[in-house]
Amino acid sequence: MAYIEMTNSYKRYGSGSSEIVANNGVTFSIEKGELAIILGTSGAGKSTVLNILGGMDTNDEGIVKIDGQEISKLSKKGLTTYRRNDVGFVFQFYNLVPNLTAKENVELASEIVTDSLNAESVLKKVGLQGRMNNFPAQLSGGEQQRVSIARAVAKKPKILLCDEPTGALDYKTGKQVLQLLQDMCRKSGVTVVIVTHNGMIAPIADRVIHMHDAKVNKIEVNPNPSDIADIEW
Ligand SMILES: Nc1ncnc2c1ncn2[C@@H]1O[C@H](COP(=O)(O)OP(=O)(O)OP(=O)(O)O)[C@@H](O)[C@H]1O
Ligand SMILES: [Mg+2]
Repeated sequence: MAYIEMTNSYKRYGSGSSEIVANNGVTFSIEKGELAIILGTSGAGKSTVLNILGGMDTNDEGIVKIDGQEISKLSKKGLTTYRRNDVGFVFQFYNLVPNLTAKENVELASEIVTDSLNAESVLKKVGLQGRMNNFPAQLSGGEQQRVSIARAVAKKPKILLCDEPTGALDYKTGKQVLQLLQDMCRKSGVTVVIVTHNGMIAPIADRVIHMHDAKVNKIEVNPNPSDIADIEW
């Protein structure tokens, strides 16, 4: 059994003539420790998939299993526990708390789970040992995104879900953030799922799930993913 399994999943928004089918029979799986990319153009249904995997939204039909647990069957309370304990989220616009320092933002993890990682050591890991006491507004976009990755990772989540994590960053900074996510996967064994519309970064993934028009239209498994440093776009 794969670590992440989505089977024949449907998500519809609205009803009647205004109904939008955001996910139309989506099926894929991701193995433990993989770096997976969900790739597709705007409106393809990528964020919908990610939000369902992360327990922020629920599907209308179909099965979603994470580490053997069928999250598509969880109650509201069960989903809250799942989100708190098992999922780390990274968003395009970082979502840091503006009046808390970098370190304090990462320490939030310890208020959510009981055995979080030490904030200082995780910030060191993302290369921010010198910026622990700065507020988000004093950090560059790339640094803020590294804080948000540190905050997500400090929870020791089963899965790290990233929705367009480099969407607000310039080319070079975006590369550094992708490098960090690939390192988290390779060195710390975190299972990482990245949503993007940028096909040029697909070679860094172990698995690429192509979405188009609410469906998965191709899945590629890459036995030899590229290093970030070796790709250009
Ligand atoms: N909460 C919602 N209510 C209504 N429609 C929604 C909602 N969320 C998504 N949709 C619709 O579902 C479809 C898929 O949206 P989704 O956000 O999953 O696409 P996406 O692939 O992430 O696109 P993008 O690259 O632009 O972020 C779109 O047509 C969108 O308008
Ligand atoms: Mg999206």
